[in-house]
Amino acid sequence: MKQLSEKVAGIAPSATIEISNKAKKMQREGIDVISLSIGEPDFDTPKHIRDACIDALNRGETHYAPSNGIPELLTAISDKIAKENKFPCKPDQVIVTCGAKDAIYEGMEAALNPGDEVLLLTPAWVSYEPCVQMANGKIVKHAVNQKTFQLDDSILERVNARTKMIVVNSPSNPSGAVFDAKSMKLVADLCEDHDIYAMSDEIYEKLVYGKEHISLASIGDMAQRTITINGFSKAYAMTGWRLGYAAAPLAIIKEMSKVQQHSVSQATTFAMWGAVAALKGDQQCVGEMRREFDCRRKYMIAELNRMGYGTAPADGAFYAFVKVDGDDMAIAARWLEEGHVAVTPGSSFDAPGWIRLSYAASLDRLKEAMGRIERVGGN
Ligand SMILES: Cc1ncc(COP(=O)(O)O)c(C=O)c1O
Repeated sequence: MKQLSEKVAGIAPSATIEISNKAKKMQREGIDVISLSIGEPDFDTPKHIRDACIDALNRGETHYAPSNGIPELLTAISDKIAKENKFPCKPDQVIVTCGAKDAIYEGMEAALNPGDEVLLLTPAWVSYEPCVQMANGKIVKHAVNQKTFQLDDSILERVNARTKMIVVNSPSNPSGAVFDAKSMKLVADLCEDHDIYAMSDEIYEKLVYGKEHISLASIGDMAQRTITINGFSKAYAMTGWRLGYAAAPLAIIKEMSKVQQHSVSQATTFAMWGAVAALKGDQQCVGEMRREFDCRRKYMIAELNRMGYGTAPADGAFYAFVKVDGDDMAIAARWLEEGHVAVTPGSSFDAPGWIRLSYAASLDRLKEAMGRIERVGGN
């Protein structure tokens, strides 16, 4: 048989999905596993959003829609961006995609030529590197300061004539860190001084606790060279709807649109009507979920610190990033096998010596999980 694609063979499967599959297998065997390994809100999608989708289905919104998205949603997104993210964005500078992940993939396909270098700040979420690989780009990793989780001038050492793009993810998955104005300005200056594009993944923008979320495209002229990624999964508990979007200069959106037209065609028509309701409806549901996450966050960080673990500044998203004394892969395996708590080793995010725990689980389950982790220990 002829050999399958070398490019795809070189891509690692998603570590977070693999761990979650292992935890699910144990659950099927009757073991009470507490899963803190996956990035998914445990809330239901708010009712007014579900109702808007059901209404759309019932009135026959079941046909093909414009590839970039229904005009009502494109307008709702561009209005939201102008108001909240504070950069100019017209509806034709938006593309609605099948999840934010799809927007990242299409953005990489649209921007990269073979061998173009993409600066990735680590610890980094698991899918950026494979998306760059699929677009034939080359990843260049740069570790952020592991105390502050902010950027400093050392990043300049990674820049050369082949650097095409930098990926920024604030609030960060996995660290929960939120880039301050200084870090963001550093990225903006770097892009403008060296003619580099930016991809700014802001999917956790609504889950920030006491810090300000800054959109990269709102700084200077960055809107002209930034692909802003966002979506509905995390803010509105809509992971299974598979709806995300990108906002970017028109020239980039046009290229992303070609990738979309010839792959998924469009996001699901009736699901997009739910997203219109999400953006235009009452935002109280977002605040309620954020308050609940904040409560769990405070509990979990305090418990981990009490047990003697250091933690990254948990200012955003819904993850505690925990420093362990030893091999993170071995410790995560023990927590799962002996404590029946599923977590994600930092090595999956290029941060060996750390473990990511999601607090998107009820406070009762988190309490039980902390007890189990304490019993098993971390060395
Ligand atoms: C940083 C980050 N970006 C993008 C995504 C993908 O989100 P979506 O469900 O909209 O594809 C995730 C999901 O885990 C994420 O953590």
